[in-house]
Amino acid sequence: MRFLRRCRSMVRALCLASVLAAGCLVRAALAAGSSCVSCHMNLGEAQAKIIRDFQGDIHHEAGLSCHSCHGGDPKTEDMALSMSPDAGFVGKPGPTDMPRFCGKCHSSPAVMKKYNPALPVDQESKFWTSHHGMELKKGNAKVAQCASCHLPHSIRKAGDPLSSVHSKNVAATCAHCHSDKEHMKGSGLPVNQFDKYMKSVHAGALYKKGDIGAPTCNDCHGNHGAQPPGVESIAMICGSCHAHNMELFNGSLMAKAWKKRGYHACATCHQHHDILQPNLDMLSGKGSVCLECHTPQHKGYQAGAAMKRGIEEGDAVYSEVTRFIDEVEQKKGMDVAEARDDIQEGRQALIQARTAVHGFDAGKVGEIASSARNALEKARTFGQKAAREFWRRRVGLGLSTLFITLVVAGILLKLRDIEK
Ligand code: HEC
Ligand code: HEC
Ligand code: HEC
Ligand code: HEC
Ligand code: HEC
Ligand code: HEC
Ligand code: HEC
Ligand code: HEC
Ligand code: HEC
Repeated sequence: MRFLRRCRSMVRALCLASVLAAGCLVRAALAAGSSCVSCHMNLGEAQAKIIRDFQGDIHHEAGLSCHSCHGGDPKTEDMALSMSPDAGFVGKPGPTDMPRFCGKCHSSPAVMKKYNPALPVDQESKFWTSHHGMELKKGNAKVAQCASCHLPHSIRKAGDPLSSVHSKNVAATCAHCHSDKEHMKGSGLPVNQFDKYMKSVHAGALYKKGDIGAPTCNDCHGNHGAQPPGVESIAMICGSCHAHNMELFNGSLMAKAWKKRGYHACATCHQHHDILQPNLDMLSGKGSVCLECHTPQHKGYQAGAAMKRGIEEGDAVYSEVTRFIDEVEQKKGMDVAEARDDIQEGRQALIQARTAVHGFDAGKVGEIASSARNALEKARTFGQKAAREFWRRRVGLGLSTLFITLVVAGILLKLRDIEK
C-alpha cells in the first residue's frame, strides 16, 4: 500500500515537473474527462497556471473539477455549449456573489457530509455577521470575502503550510489589504496592525520559536466572524490562553473600577498588536503604566512600587545564590543537587510573583517574593555548608598527607640506619 502511494506521489511529482511538456496534463485532463481543462490549458500562460495550481487544490483532491464551482458542461468541446448559462455556467463570480458561490456546498450539510462530515458548515452564515460581511452586504467590495482569504485554485486545508490561512501565513493574508494604504483609504482604519504584530512577543513565539499556540490575527479576531474583540470580550480573548492572569485580574479591586469605566482589561497595559516583553519597569519609575491613571502619591502607584521592590530583591538574591552555588560545584567539585532544587523552587516562585502582579495586591506579591527568597536562602545555607565541608576535607587530606609523609620519611631514615 505504502509503496503504491509512494509510486503515485512520485508520478505526480514527475507530472508537475514536466508541466510545460504538457503531456501529463493532457493525460490529467483526459483522466478528468473535462473539456474545461483541456481547452483552458491551451489558452496561454495565465490559464495554464490556473490548471497547474489547481492540481494542489483541496477541491481537486476531493475529486471536484472546474464545473463543480463554475457550472457548465465539461463533456462538450464546444466552447459556447460548454460555457452556456443553460448548462448552469456562472463564470467568474463577483465579490458580492462569493459567499453564496462557495456556500452552495459549504453551507449544505447534505453536500459536505459526503466528503468530510467533520467540516463545519457555518462559514457563510458566520461571515455575514462579521464586520467584513456587514460591509459587503452594503456593497463595499473592498472588504474580505471567501476568495480574498482562500485563494481560488490553490485552496488548501488550513493545516497545510502552503495554505493562505495556515497560522504562519494568516498575518500576510490579512496584511495584503490591511497594510495597503490605498486599499484601506476611506475605512478610517490605521494600516499598522501587521507591522506592530510582527514586533510582538506573540509573533516572536510563532515565527522564531515555532510555537503554534501563539496567536495570530484570526485567533483574536475569529476566522469568519471577524470582528474586533471589543471591550467586553477583550479579556476573554486574552484570557482564553492566559487564564490565570485573567482570573487574578478579575478578582482585583481594580477590575471592578475598570469595568465601570470601560477600560480594556489587558490591552490598557500591554497594548493589543504590539504586545512587548513585559518587565518590572512597567510597575514603577518613569515608564510605569500605572502613572497613566495614578499619581505617584496614590495607593495604587505605591502598591506597584512595592511589588517591584519585592520581585527585584528576589531577582538579586537569585543571581547571587546561583553564582555562589555554581562556584561551589565547579571550583570545589561538591555535590549541590539539593541546593539546585531549592534554587528551582525560588525561580518558580519568582515567575509566579510576576503573574501574581495581576491581582494588584502588594501583600500577596510580597508573600510570594519572600517565599522565593526563603528557598534561595536555604540553597545559600546548603552551599555554605558544602564549602565548609570542602575546607574540612582539604585540611583533613593535608594532615593525613603530612602524616603519611612523616611516616615514610621515618621508615626511610630507619632503613638507612639499618643499612649502615
Ligand atoms: C473550447 C474552449 C473552452 C472550453 C471547452 C471551456 N472554456 Fe472557459 N473560457 C474559454 C475562453 C476562450 C474564455 C475567455 C472568454 C472571454 O474572456 O470572453 C473562457 C472563460 C472562462 C471563465 C472566465 C469567465 C469570466 O467571466 O471571466 C471561466 C470561469 C471559465 N471559462 C470556465 C470554464 C468551465 C468551468 C468550463 C467547462 C464547463 C469551460 N470554461 C470550458 C474557453 C473554453
Ligand atoms: C472551489 C471553486 C473553484 C474551482 C473548483 C475552480 N474555480 Fe475558477 N474561480 C473560482 C473563483 C472564486 C474565481 C474568482 C476569483 C477572483 O475573483 O479572484 C475563479 C476565477 C476563474 C477564472 C477567471 C480568472 C480571472 O482572473 O479572470 C477562470 C478562467 C477560472 N476560474 C477557470 C477555472 C478552471 C479552468 C478551473 C478548473 C481547472 C476552475 N476555475 C476551478 C473558483 C473555482
Ligand atoms: C478574513 C478571512 C477569511 C474569510 C473572508 C473567509 N475565511 Fe474561511 N477561513 C479563514 C481562516 C483563517 C480559516 C481557518 C484557520 C484555522 O482553522 O486555523 C478558515 C477556514 C475555512 C474552512 C475550513 C473549516 C473551518 O470552518 O475552519 C472553510 C471550509 C472555509 N474557511 C470556507 C470559507 C468560506 C465559504 C468563506 C466565505 C463565506 C470564507 N471561508 C471566508 C479565513 C477566512
Ligand atoms: C462544489 C462544492 C464546493 C464548492 C462550490 C466550494 N467548495 Fe470548498 N470544499 C468542498 C469540498 C468537498 C471540500 C473537501 C472537504 C475535505 O475533504 O476536507 C472543500 C474544502 C474546502 C476547504 C478546506 C477545508 C479544510 O478541511 O480545511 C476550504 C478552505 C474551502 N473548501 C473553501 C472554499 C471556498 C473559499 C469556496 C468558494 C470560492 C469553495 N470552497 C467552494 C466543496 C466545495
Ligand atoms: C480584501 C481585503 C481584506 C482582507 C484580505 C482582510 N480585510 Fe479586514 N477589512 C477590510 C476592509 C476594507 C475593512 C474596513 C471596512 C470598513 O470600511 O468599515 C476591514 C475591516 C476589518 C475589521 C474591522 C475593524 C474596525 O474596527 O472597523 C477587522 C477586525 C478586520 N478587518 C480584520 C481582518 C482580519 C483578521 C483579516 C485576516 C484574517 C482581514 N481583516 C482580512 C479588508 C480586508
Ligand atoms: C492578541 C490578539 C490580537 C491579535 C493577534 C491581532 N489583533 Fe487586531 N485587535 C485586537 C484588539 C484587542 C483590538 C482592539 C479592539 C477594540 O479596540 O475594541 C484589535 C483591533 C484591530 C483592528 C481595528 C483597528 C485597530 O488597529 O485598532 C484591525 C483592523 C485589526 N485589529 C486587524 C488585525 C490584523 C490584520 C492582525 C494580524 C496582523 C491582528 N489584528 C492581530 C487583538 C488582536
Ligand atoms: C491563542 C493563545 C493566546 C492568546 C489569545 C493571547 N496570547 Fe499572549 N501569549 C501566548 C503564547 C503562546 C505566548 C508565548 C509564551 C512564551 O513565549 O513563553 C504569549 C505571550 C504573551 C506575553 C509575554 C509573556 C512573557 O512572559 O514573555 C504577554 C504579555 C501576552 N502574551 C499578553 C497577551 C494579551 C494582552 C493578549 C490579548 C490581547 C494575549 N496575550 C492573547 C498565547 C496567547
Ligand atoms: C495595570 C497593568 C496590567 C494589566 C491590566 C495587565 N497586566 Fe499583565 N503585566 C503587567 C506587568 C507590570 C507585568 C510585568 C511583570 C514582570 O514581568 O516583571 C505583566 C506581565 C504579564 C505577563 C508575563 C508574566 C506572566 O504572567 O507570565 C503576561 C502573560 C501578562 N502580563 C498577561 C496579561 C493579561 C492576559 C492581562 C489581562 C487579563 C494582563 N496581563 C493585564 C501589568 C498589567
Ligand atoms: C487605566 C487606568 C489605570 C491604570 C493604568 C492603573 N490603574 Fe490602578 N486603579 C485604577 C482605578 C480606576 C482604580 C480604582 C479607584 C481608585 O482606587 O482610585 C484603581 C485601583 C488600584 C488599586 C487599589 C487601590 C485601593 O483602593 O486599595 C491598586 C493597588 C492599583 N490600582 C494598582 C495599580 C498598579 C500597580 C498599576 C500599574 C501596574 C495600576 N494600578 C494601573 C485605574 C488604573
